[in-house]
Amino acid sequence: MKILVVGSGGREHALAWKLAQSERIQMVYVAPGNGGTARDIRLVNVQLSDPEQLAEFVVKENIGLTVVGPEIPLAAGIVDLFRARGLKIFGPTREAAQLESSKDFAKAFMQRHGIPTAKYKSFTDAELAHVYIDEQGAPIVIKADGLAAGKGVVVALSLAEAHQAVDDMLADNRYGDAGARIVIEEFLAGEEASFIVMCDGKNVLPLATSQDHKRLKDHDEGPNTGGMGAYSPAPIVTPEMHARVMREIINPTIHGMAKDGIVFTGFLYAGLMIDDKGNPKTLEFNCRMGDPETQPIMARFKSDLVAVMEHAVNGTLDTVELEWDRRTAVGVVMAAAGYPDSPRKGDIIDGIPAETPECVTFHAGTEQVAGKLQTSGGRVLCVVGLGDSVKMAQKQAYDTVDQIHFNGAQYRRDIGWRGLKH
Ligand code: AMP
Ligand code: GLY
Repeated sequence: MKILVVGSGGREHALAWKLAQSERIQMVYVAPGNGGTARDIRLVNVQLSDPEQLAEFVVKENIGLTVVGPEIPLAAGIVDLFRARGLKIFGPTREAAQLESSKDFAKAFMQRHGIPTAKYKSFTDAELAHVYIDEQGAPIVIKADGLAAGKGVVVALSLAEAHQAVDDMLADNRYGDAGARIVIEEFLAGEEASFIVMCDGKNVLPLATSQDHKRLKDHDEGPNTGGMGAYSPAPIVTPEMHARVMREIINPTIHGMAKDGIVFTGFLYAGLMIDDKGNPKTLEFNCRMGDPETQPIMARFKSDLVAVMEHAVNGTLDTVELEWDRRTAVGVVMAAAGYPDSPRKGDIIDGIPAETPECVTFHAGTEQVAGKLQTSGGRVLCVVGLGDSVKMAQKQAYDTVDQIHFNGAQYRRDIGWRGLKH
């Protein structure tokens, strides 16, 4: 069978890498892919990104199944378009993807269905937003309603910062349409975890848990990024916590969507905040897998992903039992100079070692130019180490990171630190 993966990041490289390991696979196409998927002889990059053109390509090449990585094509309705042409695709419809593409939609949905989340109010009027902030006090969180590539959230520690964020989004239009409406919500303290499941419209299949590291620098300092590393499993999600999240968040979300007339299919990612008493709340939903969470999750995924994907598009996920590598996987992102504000492109990358059973390097912002690999985006690589403990997995990852070189590389030295605490 032939499969198409849509996207160009580390997440898509990891998904394509795993799909290509299946014995049933004839070819894995990645659109548009990156320098890493270009180098892998089992993968083929396709320079297309428009959903219409992708659908035509799928028909022409007789591709059996499409898996979508990023949120943008999902929010644009790629799933609706493919299904209207009878093509099999795993992801949420445009309507279902609103759980991610509109924070206002997601918050109203959670409130309506009693799903635990931070208290909030939505605004389009800056004056009213300023008044609300003064009433509520700081810390407080300001979010652009629409998709903003992970940059639309300001955790304001002071009132001044909060007022500034409102002006940036509503008055100065700094986030464009995404910030024409904002959500202001209660600040939640605690430890975050990423809880990702697959949904086929009827059944829910949880993947291994993970934890992201959103800040640029060690000890969770510096600006927010798309994610500087992730590890799996996340020990804060004990079996009891897992059951509770399924009962209080995941199942009510799927059932709530159905009650509202929307069948949810695809990956559903609940970003959790777990307070010091062990109560989980939903910070956000994503309608896709996380990046970089996918990289350590795929490194631990032992089942045949092609078979699982087929069950997912055929509505038979209830028959699947996933098998996981018992080891911990730690994924360290190596980012370009200037990331996250203005990543530099064109630095030559050297020293990526061949994959071993203990370590694999996934590419994101890389491209092959005249036979040389160079940086082409913010997050460049994600080096995933596997080991019997967080410490051993860290050692595997960082031994490899130390061999890789490009000018201005930025990475954290402490990926997995919360796992060491538990
Ligand atoms: P989001 O895109 O909604 O997940 O927000 C990005 C990041 O902002 C999260 O991963 C958290 O670290 C932080 N964040 C979002 N909402 C809150 C909140 N209500 N309280 C505290 N931190 C938050
Ligand atoms: N790693 C966070 C995300 O993918 O949204």
